[in-house]
Amino acid sequence: MQIHIYDNVTQVGQAAATLFTAQLLRKPDSVFGFATGSSPSVLYRQLIALRRAGILDFSSSVSFSLDEYCGIPISHPCSYRAFMQAELFDHINMKATYVPDGNAPDLAAECVRYDAQIAACGGIDMQLLGIGRNGHIAFNEPSGAFSYETHVTELTPSTIDANKRFFQGEEVPRKAISMGIGSIMASRELVMIATGSDKAQAVRYALEGDIDPMFPASIIRFHKVSTLFLDKAAAALL
Ligand code: GLP
Repeated sequence: MQIHIYDNVTQVGQAAATLFTAQLLRKPDSVFGFATGSSPSVLYRQLIALRRAGILDFSSSVSFSLDEYCGIPISHPCSYRAFMQAELFDHINMKATYVPDGNAPDLAAECVRYDAQIAACGGIDMQLLGIGRNGHIAFNEPSGAFSYETHVTELTPSTIDANKRFFQGEEVPRKAISMGIGSIMASRELVMIATGSDKAQAVRYALEGDIDPMFPASIIRFHKVSTLFLDKAAAALL
């Protein structure tokens, strides 16, 4: 694992964007895995700027999002589909953008379908990850075992609390669909972004603690090609 530590969030996002840029230039039909949350904001803005400048062409590439809430319509501004449209997809020209359907009538079938769709596209070339304060990646919450496949998950109080800031007083959904650890770890390359002091403990456990499903992010240490971009605040406890 390569670890890069920068002074600030802007540098972190711009550095991570160089990997996504290189990936797309090297393989125009790349399969990307994208994450929601605030961590990727600068990276997404950078990719949009490069697209607008005519430097990047996403028209042969596709993306799979890590997760989606259950029980809110995709028209809700906090749905991860809406979030990704606003933050990235509406501003670049990807061939297709896949997000799990958190309102599918049969959620178990939707999970199977999503994994099959990832497999049909040949797996993910470059997967972006954030990290939750409790060490979750996507919505793989701490539990007794790693969930290999895409699955429906109950969000923990810590995750609900962390995501409240997006919901402006409304209830945060309790349930979500999340890509499993299997598809994440099968990605050919992982890129993780963590910034801010509230991620410092999570980063320390992920890198220095036991590899433990009670701390899902720790699994990325088993990945052969992974890069972690941190700001000084998130790296403070290493
Ligand atoms: C959410 C998402 C994760 C994300 C995490 C961190 O729970 N499901 O994919 O990595 O939050 O978000 P942020 O980057 O806003 O701290």
